[in-house]
Amino acid sequence: MARTTLLGTDLPLVAAPMAGGPTTLDLLSATTEAGALAFLAGGYQTPQALADQIRHAHQRTHTFGVNLFVPSTTPAPDPAALAAYAHRIAPDAAAHGVDLDAVLAALPAADDDGWAAKVDLLRRDPVPVVSFTFGPPPAADVAALRAAGSVVLVTVTTPQEAAAATELGADGLVVQGPRAGGHSGTWDPARTVGDGTTTDVVAAVVARTHLPVIAAGGVDDAPAVAALLRAGAQAVAVGTLLLRTDEAGTTRTHRDALADPRFPTTAMTRAFTGRPARALVNGFLTRHDAHAPDAYPQVHHLTRELRRRAAAAGDAARLHLWAGTGHRSAATGPAADVVRALAARL
Ligand SMILES: Cc1cc2nc3c(=O)[nH]c(=O)nc-3n(C[C@H](O)[C@H](O)[C@H](O)COP(=O)(O)O)c2cc1C
Repeated sequence: MARTTLLGTDLPLVAAPMAGGPTTLDLLSATTEAGALAFLAGGYQTPQALADQIRHAHQRTHTFGVNLFVPSTTPAPDPAALAAYAHRIAPDAAAHGVDLDAVLAALPAADDDGWAAKVDLLRRDPVPVVSFTFGPPPAADVAALRAAGSVVLVTVTTPQEAAAATELGADGLVVQGPRAGGHSGTWDPARTVGDGTTTDVVAAVVARTHLPVIAAGGVDDAPAVAALLRAGAQAVAVGTLLLRTDEAGTTRTHRDALADPRFPTTAMTRAFTGRPARALVNGFLTRHDAHAPDAYPQVHHLTRELRRRAAAAGDAARLHLWAGTGHRSAATGPAADVVRALAARL
């Protein structure tokens, strides 16, 4: 099979970065060996933990990517709006013994997810591919990482973002459709991220830029992969389909919920982190979605301990159950089987 030019892999398939636990070195190895390009999820990790993971990844494979969160440029949220949301979700926190007044008082004044240290690390110890989500990275960082030898990809969700990422000097785009699981990579977290197909977004982006495109969002089988390639994508990324595999680090509570008939649908919500993300519709989402402020990462920090305890206690009704619309097709078993099944129509 032809090697895809942008990624240097045998298959035009990508194991998408999934921060917060699901991405592991074992998932990277399994999907890489099956012929996909796998990403490490640099978001939420300390720079030191990411450096350690990269060192191990270099020992396991010669081609992989690292994904980083671009820090928010949204002005700090209104403290009163944040306090009102804390008050609203306080009973859910109390159910797990978390005092949200104390959490609110101790919120970090600023959090850029260790941006400078992580970019510096990737400049000093280059990896084959670097991708960004949540916004445009500074052009100087894109240039520096390219000069260090990395292929640089920028996640976009609209043709306008695609045009701007092209101007920034990116080598390629990750085009994420609104059906993707987890956080939307939208550059404008205040906007309403709709419900359309990834194929439509890819077609619109391909008409606007010459850059190669990796399509992501809502993929549930091999025909969906083939359709995105026909729409002009050079490769297709999957996240949700890997969440229940043996090698993923997904919590038991999340894994089980993905196949639980009590959670048949997904929705885009700010309820868990303050940034739009697609999750299984559960009690927490239903109660609080309409009231959640546009306030990432503040809401992420506000709910983090509550969510950690909910996961540990098997309380799926209060956990952020990130999932794309293809979640019903997420199978258990080896991740390599998922990659092979997706490649069946290529
Ligand atoms: C649990 C989870 C965590 C995610 N974390 C990240 C991340 O750290 N960085 C990122 O760019 N995208 C992240 N995403 C989005 C994926 O990279 C990808 O765009 C998405 O999973 C594709 O849609 P699908 O889930 O329908 O396959 C995450 C998705 C999920 C489900």
